[in-house]
Amino acid sequence: MDRNPPQVPTELIASTLLKTYGLEGSLTELDSERDQNTRVVTADGTYLFKVCNADEDLEVIDLQIKALHHIAARDPELPVPRALPTLSGDDTGQLQDQDGTTYVVRLMSFVPGDTIRTHPELDTPALRRSSGAMLARLDLALRGFFHPAANQDHPWAMAQMPKLLKYTESISDPSARRNVEGILEKVRDEVLPRTARMRHQVVHQDAHTGNLVIAPSRPTEIAGIIDFGDMVYGPLIMDLAVATDLTGRPSLSPEGLFDVAVGYDSVLPLEEGEVDVLVDLILGRMAMTATIVAARNALWPLVPAYHDYEVQLWSQIETLLATAPDMRIGLRRATRFPMPIDGTLDSAKLRAERERVMGEKSPHFYKETLHVERGKGVWLYGSNGNKYLDFYNNVPTVGHGHPHVVNAVSRQLAALNTHTRYLYNNSVEYADRLTATLGDDLDVCLFVNSGSEANDVAWQISQVVSGNAGLLVMHNAYHGITQAGIDMTTAKGLDRATHVEEIPAPDDYRREMTTATMATSDTKAAIERLAVRGMTPAALIVDSAMCSSGIPDVPDDFLPAIAATVQAAGGLVIADEVQSGFGRLGAMWGHELLGMRPDIVTLGKPVGNGHPLGVVITSRAILDEFQAQVRLFSTFGGNPVSCAAGLAVLDVMEREGLVENSRAMGEYLQEQLWKLAETQPLIGDVRGRGLLGGLELVTDRTTKEPATAATLELLEVMRENGALVGKDGEHAHILKLRPPLVTTSSDIDIFIALLDRSLTTVSS
Ligand SMILES: Cc1ncc(COP(=O)(O)O)c(C=O)c1O
Repeated sequence: MDRNPPQVPTELIASTLLKTYGLEGSLTELDSERDQNTRVVTADGTYLFKVCNADEDLEVIDLQIKALHHIAARDPELPVPRALPTLSGDDTGQLQDQDGTTYVVRLMSFVPGDTIRTHPELDTPALRRSSGAMLARLDLALRGFFHPAANQDHPWAMAQMPKLLKYTESISDPSARRNVEGILEKVRDEVLPRTARMRHQVVHQDAHTGNLVIAPSRPTEIAGIIDFGDMVYGPLIMDLAVATDLTGRPSLSPEGLFDVAVGYDSVLPLEEGEVDVLVDLILGRMAMTATIVAARNALWPLVPAYHDYEVQLWSQIETLLATAPDMRIGLRRATRFPMPIDGTLDSAKLRAERERVMGEKSPHFYKETLHVERGKGVWLYGSNGNKYLDFYNNVPTVGHGHPHVVNAVSRQLAALNTHTRYLYNNSVEYADRLTATLGDDLDVCLFVNSGSEANDVAWQISQVVSGNAGLLVMHNAYHGITQAGIDMTTAKGLDRATHVEEIPAPDDYRREMTTATMATSDTKAAIERLAVRGMTPAALIVDSAMCSSGIPDVPDDFLPAIAATVQAAGGLVIADEVQSGFGRLGAMWGHELLGMRPDIVTLGKPVGNGHPLGVVITSRAILDEFQAQVRLFSTFGGNPVSCAAGLAVLDVMEREGLVENSRAMGEYLQEQLWKLAETQPLIGDVRGRGLLGGLELVTDRTTKEPATAATLELLEVMRENGALVGKDGEHAHILKLRPPLVTTSSDIDIFIALLDRSLTTVSS
């Protein structure tokens, strides 16, 4: 606390400068906390001459000089002082005072300009962003630097701030003292244990407004960072915490500090944990300042300015403490980190806001919409801190947030994202990898952005290539939201378009087993109904999983029979693999498993693991014929980021053996569901393949009355119990299970236990 700077007479400074550095010029004494600093202006330039504090450890002086050398080598343009040698080439010289004290002296280049502290009117968002960016650049330049003295005990070492708790008694205001002690205790007990596991390096630790230099001619840019006297080795985030300190910015609202963090993040990306501790560390730094100022006021009570500063600091701490929870969220928003899952968000308010901006009828599940902000593997995390076993979402096929997909997408996004009118490597690689998983004649790809678009394009191709206009679909099918998709969709109770005819889906739970002969005659009948209206089929589109038709057991010869009938009538066959593809049914492709040879395959949902990506795959001959007549281009379809996502998903599928896992876990799931059916009478039938499961729920096993209301209630109860499932089928009474393909047998055990408990609740 008590470190008076040396007070060497100016004549002695002048003679030392001449003798040791060969410099002669005008000298101006500058303010300093520990050393005696003199500005030296010569004919050739401006310098800073330092007479180091007599108590200063020589190793610490060496640390500062070596750090400046390191920075100069790493980022020569960075506007920080350069450490300059003596005439004999040494890093330091010596000076002997009249009273015999020997001081170490050193010389640096002078960074010209004023500081932000002396120009508060220039403290704009742009300048604050620039200060964050400059500090990040400095931290990058310091990366890899180490010196034994960087582990020194330093009164301003952020990571040692709890040591200051023994000085807080000097804070004269009881409420301010309580605040400061509360902050320091929280930092000691909660924050430092977290920062101990974060990125560490030697940090400047003093980039406050008094050490950030600006040139008034360029007021939105930082012109330099000075004062390397507080450097220590510690958590990297401490550097930003000091720079985002409110001290010295009396008129800035706390949100103004986000600019500094945003600027820093733009050069050296922050980690999520670092963002989360930043507000507590800013408070900690202010509590440190309040304590040190109070202790010094107690030592030298004659400096009234210090007391005004103290009072201002107390009130800034009070303000920041009151806004700290909002600040934490605001900081995440400013740096675009996702929202927290610690129960601090107001879901009801968010729901109301969503209705305001997205419409009151914007679809959502559950009476009280589920508010999730995070997902990992088979789990989704609610904003309330609850976790949910995700047996509903078939899109994150390799699991939520799979690191390989995350890395692939972020790396590609950082490198390039454009469109397929240019040539780039990964669209070709992706098309190659994808078509290699399909039959030999399915060897070309068109990239779009969703399952709906893929089906729309497949329909266009079918019409152009066949020259026909009729469309055949399964009963209660769903194929998308474009006009073509709506026409193909018979599951929504809309009037059927005049070019569309339905084929009944199999349902051997309620009706007799559908044979190939029956399927063929049903298809022929549909074709005849089209003929009555003067049309022949251009296409049949079929989802081999028949999800919306209630996930029926599809007999092996069913799809080959209907497909052959349509092809014989001149139509193309489109396998909509949006639900059934990519290993969902325990084989790579649903149509292959069920023995069908389509002309076109459409993909969506799982292929990008959540990144929007749709693909149309067909034969070279069909594509050539189509492209001869139609020029089709999608702005986003096949962009490098989507292809990176697609490639990464394929990598994971292969590396983790997910098709095989889907088959094996699917068998286990079916076994467990059948076992459950023995004790749960609501279960009328168990169906599905691979990791697609369907449970038909009935009020009575004899009458097979659909248990529509109970299914709805079951979804709610399951959510309360921590598992997410869906419903489907004409009467919305088929429980639909589609967990990620990384699901393990213990996930299934948890799921079965939750389902059992929920069925008991609904049945009682
Ligand atoms: C079988 C099938 N096809 C197409 C689609 C439409 O895909 P998207 O929602 O990506 O447009 C869906 C969506 O649920 C689907 O289940």
